[in-house]
Amino acid sequence: MKERESFGSRMAVIMALAGSAIGLGNIWRFPYLVGQNGGAAFVVVYIISTLLLSLPIFFAESVIGRRSGANCRGAMERLAPGTNWKWLGYLSVFTPLWIVSYYSVVGGWSLEYLVQACSLKFVHSSPDQIAGSFGVFISRPWAPAVFHLCFLAVTVAIVALGVKSGIEKFSKVCLPVLFLLIVLIAVYSVTLPGAGKGVEYLLKPDFSKLTLHTCLDALGQSFYSLSLGMGIIITYSSYVSKKENLMVSGVGTAISDLLFAILAGLAIMPAVFAAGIEPGSGPGLIFDTLPYIFSQMAVTMPVVSSVVAILFFLTILFAALTSSVSLIEVGVAYLTEEKGMKRGWACLLLFFLTGTFGVLCSLSFGPLADIQVFHLGLFDFADTFASNVLLLLGGLLCVLFVGWKMPRRDVESEFTNNGVKRVNARWFPFFYFLIRFVAPAGVALLFISNLI
Ligand code: PFF
Repeated sequence: MKERESFGSRMAVIMALAGSAIGLGNIWRFPYLVGQNGGAAFVVVYIISTLLLSLPIFFAESVIGRRSGANCRGAMERLAPGTNWKWLGYLSVFTPLWIVSYYSVVGGWSLEYLVQACSLKFVHSSPDQIAGSFGVFISRPWAPAVFHLCFLAVTVAIVALGVKSGIEKFSKVCLPVLFLLIVLIAVYSVTLPGAGKGVEYLLKPDFSKLTLHTCLDALGQSFYSLSLGMGIIITYSSYVSKKENLMVSGVGTAISDLLFAILAGLAIMPAVFAAGIEPGSGPGLIFDTLPYIFSQMAVTMPVVSSVVAILFFLTILFAALTSSVSLIEVGVAYLTEEKGMKRGWACLLLFFLTGTFGVLCSLSFGPLADIQVFHLGLFDFADTFASNVLLLLGGLLCVLFVGWKMPRRDVESEFTNNGVKRVNARWFPFFYFLIRFVAPAGVALLFISNLI
């Protein structure tokens, strides 16, 4: 039998996991949620949710992955053979494929915006021409669908190269570049005249603005951002060697993800305030508002504006790619290990399946706008169903599995490397308590409130 691939070093593990976590969730979703939920108080709840709820779920998924050393479906067969937990395995394979279909549509938008930034479109258009052009942009029938397929093709090509030569190498190059780019943009953004208000909005909490809704949004965002409940952490952890420290890779990933989200906030909010724009404008914040800001800047500083625009869309593109790679890898691991398919064929099959569904999602902003599921267009339905149902169900079942089904000694031995890691052993009872009681309660609350 062919030997299973694994990541080459601790750094590689953290880079790949952080590459998966850092994505559109950080650059696109986080800033607009901060804007809609009143600023810094949301950020504080988001950080607390990450540490107390999402991180334990992350550990639970890592334990499943590394203990079994298999893809999501195989993991359930090894850890709970012949039981209904196999459905958790299937769900964990299905969810990322569902998600990558529409995620790569947004990836396609960032690719096309990058092309437009390189062709100096924002510099040559007046702010008035740019304002509101996003709606027209996404409703064109073919260009967004073609860019979506191009984005997906690049994703699949990286995955086809394998865990070490594809995913690991790509993440190792991309992640440092991503941090460098976002720091450059943040430094530029906070030095804009009038940016101080944006920095204050992001960093000075006003707890009187906190509501239950804000807290649930923060929890949902921390869950989404750490790539939980979608089989990614299980699959990537199955490539982690038995010697690695799961606590270090988990904490390293969570900290990188938090840091990147805050840097993305610092890159976007000050610019939004400097341009005098309402921060709570919703999902269109980066695609609608920023091109407007770039074209506004271009009136006085055309060169700086073009460079910043290119860097910005390049950052979004890289961030989206490192995440979409992890989404596709879950399905590829399943097909190669459970169905005996060659990696290349598995990639091709998933390209066709997710590419086709993605084209339908993309067309739902234009020619297929009339097709509605629960009163939502296909894209919005796909996103709502994933964020509100699939992810939470997957995450909830994972913590229940680790907290209540797996023997405690197995969980402890995986988390502490058989008792070798003393610090982990000291923290284990605390995390185990969170996994058994706090995390399921938090996710169940979020799940029920979303359903309602
Ligand atoms: N964690 C990544 C992000 O924040 O973009 C990947 C991801 C999460 C993709 C959740 C899709 C998703 F629904």
